[in-house]
Amino acid sequence: MSAVNTIEICQPDDWHLHVRDGEVLPDLIAHTAKQFARAIIMPNLKPPVTTAELALAYKQRILAARPAGNLFEPLMVLYLTDNTTAEQVKNAKDAGVVGFKLYPAGATTNSDAGVTDLAKCASALQAMEACGMPLLVHGEVTHADVDVFDREAVFIDQVLEPLRKKHAGLKIVFEHITTKQAAQYVRDADTQRYGAIGATITPQHMLYNRNAIFTGGVRPHYYCLPILKREEHRLALVDVAASGNSRFFLGTDSAPHAKGTKENACGCAGCYTAWHAMPLYAEVFDAANALDRLEGFASHFGADFYGLSRNTAKLVLKREQQIIPEEFPMGSSTVVPLRAGEMLSWTIVG
Ligand code: DOR
Ligand code: ZN
Repeated sequence: MSAVNTIEICQPDDWHLHVRDGEVLPDLIAHTAKQFARAIIMPNLKPPVTTAELALAYKQRILAARPAGNLFEPLMVLYLTDNTTAEQVKNAKDAGVVGFKLYPAGATTNSDAGVTDLAKCASALQAMEACGMPLLVHGEVTHADVDVFDREAVFIDQVLEPLRKKHAGLKIVFEHITTKQAAQYVRDADTQRYGAIGATITPQHMLYNRNAIFTGGVRPHYYCLPILKREEHRLALVDVAASGNSRFFLGTDSAPHAKGTKENACGCAGCYTAWHAMPLYAEVFDAANALDRLEGFASHFGADFYGLSRNTAKLVLKREQQIIPEEFPMGSSTVVPLRAGEMLSWTIVG
């Protein structure tokens, strides 16, 4: 912890966000738009957002749900399926779509339409290489015989490394990394011979290890996918983020679920952090004595990776304690944020 009590940074962007659709949109967008200028909107709706037309319509619904006068910009990503064609990739590029998301089938919330075998996507991936369209990957192998805590490390060996070799021009974002293997892989990846690679990191994976899911009982609001890992992995993530390496940037993976679907015999995966994301990240960088590196991680490196301009507005955070509310309205339901009812050390003041 440093003596710095106020930080002013270039306004950040969230490079990985779930806002769902319909009546919940205004409540959820308001939280993100208070902090972030832009966010990549994940396409795992039901049905998934698989074409440029669907993405543009979804974008309009998000724009319409913004608070009055707010200029938040949603950046759209399409859901890669076994049937995505090269033509659909070209159409997406022309429509301003910023990436395709790979969900291995069955990996997480609404991933039934996900890819069963990447070989089926070869022509779509070639088209992505050709037009510089990034592939965003949910990096987990989902076979029943792979331990849930090993899924990410197995993905690197069995899927990611062969993929980068086969499609040497493909630009990849390894989403929500959770392990030291992923941090090292991205840090050390050869981007001269192979495509550029970046990684997003969530606040929960830098703040908590897997003990948080089981402290005094099962804590469903700390359950997300990929699942929280051991302390050594948390430390490795903080290390790369706080090092100022531009391959690592902010992506909250804020994933709202109605309270009753989390506090349930078979609870959904996802942590809700949209309301307090920047204070949570400030806490991480503060504890690592690296508050001066927060701006690069939150506001520069993601925009640079995607080839977009950096924001010009500012965001100011103050070292000021506040209690995180127990829940927030979410349409006709409510959503429980990460660390609900407990203390936050930083507050957004401008
Ligand atoms: O915890 C998660 N929740 N991980 C994901 O990959 C998806 C997300 C969701 O959409 O709820
Ligand atoms: Zn996600």
